[in-house]
Amino acid sequence: MSKKVYIESYGCQMNVNDSEVVAGILAKDGYVAVQSAEEADLVLLNTCSVREKAEYTVMQRINEMNRLKAGNKELKVGVLGCMAERMKENLLVEKKVVDLVVGPDAYRSLPKLLDEVGSGQRAVNVLLSREETYGEIVPVRLNSNGVTAFVTIMRGCDNMCAFCVVPFTRGRERSRDPQTILGECRDLADKGYKEVTLLGQNVDSYRWNIDARGTVKDPSLPVTDFADLLELVAMNCPGLRIRYSTSHPKDMTDKVLAVMARHDNICKYIHLPVQSGSSAVLQRMNRGYDRAWYLERVASIRRHMPECALSTDIISGFCGETEEEHQETLSLLAEVGYDMAFMFKYSERPKTLAARRHEDDVPEEVKSRRLTEIIEAQRNSSAKRLAGYVGQEHKVLVEGVSKRSTEFMQGRNTQNAVVIVPKALADGTALKPGDFIRVRITSSTPGSLQGEPLALLHRIQHPA
Ligand code: SAH
Ligand code: SF4
Ligand code: F3S
Repeated sequence: MSKKVYIESYGCQMNVNDSEVVAGILAKDGYVAVQSAEEADLVLLNTCSVREKAEYTVMQRINEMNRLKAGNKELKVGVLGCMAERMKENLLVEKKVVDLVVGPDAYRSLPKLLDEVGSGQRAVNVLLSREETYGEIVPVRLNSNGVTAFVTIMRGCDNMCAFCVVPFTRGRERSRDPQTILGECRDLADKGYKEVTLLGQNVDSYRWNIDARGTVKDPSLPVTDFADLLELVAMNCPGLRIRYSTSHPKDMTDKVLAVMARHDNICKYIHLPVQSGSSAVLQRMNRGYDRAWYLERVASIRRHMPECALSTDIISGFCGETEEEHQETLSLLAEVGYDMAFMFKYSERPKTLAARRHEDDVPEEVKSRRLTEIIEAQRNSSAKRLAGYVGQEHKVLVEGVSKRSTEFMQGRNTQNAVVIVPKALADGTALKPGDFIRVRITSSTPGSLQGEPLALLHRIQHPA
């Protein structure tokens, strides 16, 4: 009888994809993935440390495992991911219910660690690696819509943004072999997937076969940077639509923008986290660019691809942020006019540059008020951008039934906006997940577009 694992993911898209890698590793060990903790022999929580609140949520969830274990003495509980890496064996001390603690670079050791756990011990592996990319591991897709998938192209991060815990939890930056990336994308296309999102903390510093100093490692092989990789996937997987995340404003090159402009199957959407509109704050954050540099990057995007959508991340109330500096963030939001933004209150993280060097001195209520103002400004900007699409015809990839109403389907346009359409074309043809359709955008709400499906562009053949 096969063993049952339930994996729950917190945090970023990379964690979601790591859980699929873990499911791939465990599949070889005889585990099948199940949909709830209640049916599982093994529960794995793949955790995030990026803000205190993210860790708090996981701590609550770990506590709930006590109740499950009371009903199932055989149940084992493991903590994976960034919190496992940050807290290490302390997690075993703090939470008696935890049997297993495994960091992001140690997933290959899971079968061995699970043997130890099976014989009644508690097991830990939080070693970070300079090489591990899980290159050839075939991920098992969890909660998949069968249409869109994540493909991790690099791991770790060598930047030291002052607020950020990721370099401590994910280790040094390393890039994955482009051939294994291409192999995974082709395999997804063969299985009927229609879109891949290439993932890294800073995709613009992807490099293969060349070191940070510019020395070529193997002269008989090509050097691949992020622009080359994007083009490689775009050309070799013509049936796939390609997205990526995350760009770093300090490293985003015009070469990447030119490749995006050249290929129809690369989506015209860039997530370009700015964090703050104030050059002084950006300097304290150690982001490596200032406001003028960022705005020039945005201008370059618009020169290359006038239709390109932009989204961003913003932190309110970083150390020492004055009212004027906050106003600069609001004015930057107005100036850029993002389609979307993820907005957060600053949360101090142990060991980071900011924790060591700067005082977390913006009072909680000021952080909250500023965040509210940022959210309000962004709501207007999103509404304006989306309203601007009304009347246009867009190519939309149908992902599934609308979350709001089963009478509608939903998908995304190249700009990554959610588009809601009726379930069938005017001639009665029912729409299916994976269909590319031409849609006339008829109206917009603050969070999505509504449209009329005009025609099927191509229909994918799902494998039997
Ligand atoms: N690699 C990406 C971001 C990864 S973390 C980049 O460089 O942009 C995702 C987002 O979480 C960040 O962009 C930032 O806005 C937010 N974030 C990270 N650390 C944070 C902290 N300590 N407090 C609040 N928000 C934080
Ligand atoms: Fe964190 Fe900066 Fe690296 Fe992004 S680039 S993961 S914000 S250190
Ligand atoms: Fe969180 Fe780790 Fe991702 S800290 S945001 S899960 S890299």
